[in-house]
Amino acid sequence: MTASAPIVRLSGVRLDRGGRTILRGLDLDVPKGAIVAVLGPSGSGKSTLLAAITGELEPAAGTVEVFGQPVPRERRALLSLRKGIGVLLQGNGLLTDLTAAENVALPLRAHTDLPEPVIARLVRMKLHAVGLRAAADLYPRELSGGMARRVALARALALDPPLMVYDEPLTGLDPIASGVIMALIRRLNDTLGLTSIVVSHHVHETLPVADHALVIANGRIVFAGTPSELETSHDPFVRQFLRGEPDGPIAFDAAARTEAA
Ligand SMILES: Nc1ncnc2c1ncn2[C@@H]1O[C@H](COP(=O)(O)OP(=O)(O)OP(=O)(O)O)[C@@H](O)[C@H]1O
Ligand SMILES: [Mg+2]
Repeated sequence: MTASAPIVRLSGVRLDRGGRTILRGLDLDVPKGAIVAVLGPSGSGKSTLLAAITGELEPAAGTVEVFGQPVPRERRALLSLRKGIGVLLQGNGLLTDLTAAENVALPLRAHTDLPEPVIARLVRMKLHAVGLRAAADLYPRELSGGMARRVALARALALDPPLMVYDEPLTGLDPIASGVIMALIRRLNDTLGLTSIVVSHHVHETLPVADHALVIANGRIVFAGTPSELETSHDPFVRQFLRGEPDGPIAFDAAARTEAA
């Protein structure tokens, strides 16, 4: 893999779920070191796209490459790839009967044979990286929403993954906590030399820290470019999405189905 090879590459990808095509014709390169924002209405397939990148969902057509290799289907190879991808899911997923430090230690205990003092030191470093060293011994119920999100972030970083994927990292956070999280995503990306994919419908909080933006709607990528190109785009899909208008070229039937489910 050369220095300029993309960290993630999708070529002609189609993604189906429950016998239905969710996304088609996906072509995407995520360059090393970039933060790519994936925007789109609810139910458009943002989480489905992430599932294809983490190897959870096999594409119905086309190829998904991560770190210059096709995502393997064989279980051991797939687990090994996944150690290189830090995932922050919408619900944090913290275990409530473990402290912040114990939560961050989980992936280290599960995937390494490091001795306990080394794990303890790594956990302190990860909590320090998210500004929470003082919260090591607190339980999730003792943390604010923003602090809990940062603990989940520290846990996602535990194995030093070169690629981070964030699914709606701002859900449930107020504007100040949202700003803290987005700034942290940018700072960690740059100081640790990561590549990040941030799925969000919080357009105005997400775009300022992104290098590239994608908008998905109606089963495909309707925009790919820089955040400033996005903001000045005259494309009717993009305008409708940015303004949050119910009427326009984006069909909201998929979203309605999701809510009804
Ligand atoms: N496991 C599944 N089986 C069948 N259909 C699914 C499954 N997961 C998602 N879908 C469908 O795929 C479509 C896209 O869902 P997805 O979760 O990727 O959307 P999203 O853009 O992440 O939405 P949100 O912003 O609400 O999180 C939806 O219509 C959903 O109903
Ligand atoms: Mg989603």
